[in-house]
Amino acid sequence: MNLDQILNKEELNKEEIVFLLSLQKKEELEKLYFQANEVRKEYCGDEVHLRGIIEFSNYCDQECMYCGLRRSNKNLQRYRMTKDEIISTAGRITKAGLKTVVLQSGEDHFYSKSLVTDIIISIKEKYDTAITLSIGERGRDEYEEWKKAGADRYLLKHETANDKLYSAYHQQEMLKSRLAHIRCLKQIGFQTGSGNIIGLPGQTIEDIADDILLCKEMDCDMCSFSPFIPSNNSPLWKIPPANIDLTLKTIAAARIVLKDVHIPATTALSTLIDGGKELGLKVGANVIMPNFTPLPYRVNYQIYKNKKTYDPLVYLEEIKSMLDRIGRNVGEGKGHSLKLVINQ
Ligand code: 5AD
Repeated sequence: MNLDQILNKEELNKEEIVFLLSLQKKEELEKLYFQANEVRKEYCGDEVHLRGIIEFSNYCDQECMYCGLRRSNKNLQRYRMTKDEIISTAGRITKAGLKTVVLQSGEDHFYSKSLVTDIIISIKEKYDTAITLSIGERGRDEYEEWKKAGADRYLLKHETANDKLYSAYHQQEMLKSRLAHIRCLKQIGFQTGSGNIIGLPGQTIEDIADDILLCKEMDCDMCSFSPFIPSNNSPLWKIPPANIDLTLKTIAAARIVLKDVHIPATTALSTLIDGGKELGLKVGANVIMPNFTPLPYRVNYQIYKNKKTYDPLVYLEEIKSMLDRIGRNVGEGKGHSLKLVINQ
């Protein structure tokens, strides 16, 4: 296969994506990253959208094998933020100039349909911000009500496109059921985010190519490709973290294949390597999600080990000067889906 030809093709098949993910030589990787950056420029411009995350509860009903929030982990101090705490944290995010609030938690049914609705309505009344929900699988009626209440986006990663691995890591649950949720969210009108974890034991490069193609087939608006990092409190505690080059190749190949989607430079990537966010932005990413979870809580949102903690305002300044240095700028609008006509 010829790298230059593949990089200039409009559509890539699985074999070609696998070829990109297998590249090893420095000059070839540089070509891949260069092309991914060109595609990013063409479809996203130089804007980097900042989304402020609030990790409002670390209670979780699920038992995902890779995750430190899994229900059976007893070595974690569990917390739930009150409605008022969540709303005032959303205020801090918008005051810092960010125009998306991401509400993330474990799968925690303490936050009922009406409580989540209340929180969405209160944030929307008080602040001019987009809202992304990242709270796991819920019922169609809940999704519908939250959309009506004003939530704009929903983030529900498919985690792995390999259905056998999916079942193995999620207590025999089915990938097709997960995909049905994502389709349902799209139907209801949410801008929808999906994505994978890179470096799960048993996962092949072919599986990662399928992850990228699945994001394409699902027509997701945001796709997150983030590296596995072990959690000491999960059955995968002994497994080494994902390979950095494979993570960067995945982001780059995804940008080339998916084109007009938002791709974050994830917190996991910057946990894996210093300067990880900058590396991600240089190979196709266009979104950063600074963490605004209040300090006493955030140390307990331990999805994986060594998750970075920082003062969000200091961190924002660091991001802004990094963006300056690499010739990028903070997105001005809400950074809605690149597939929508309205983008303000
Ligand atoms: N490493 C990397 N990402 C993880 N997630 C959960 N556990 C890990 C881990 N050990 C990701 C999942 C989930 C998101 C909130 O965190 O993809 O969707």
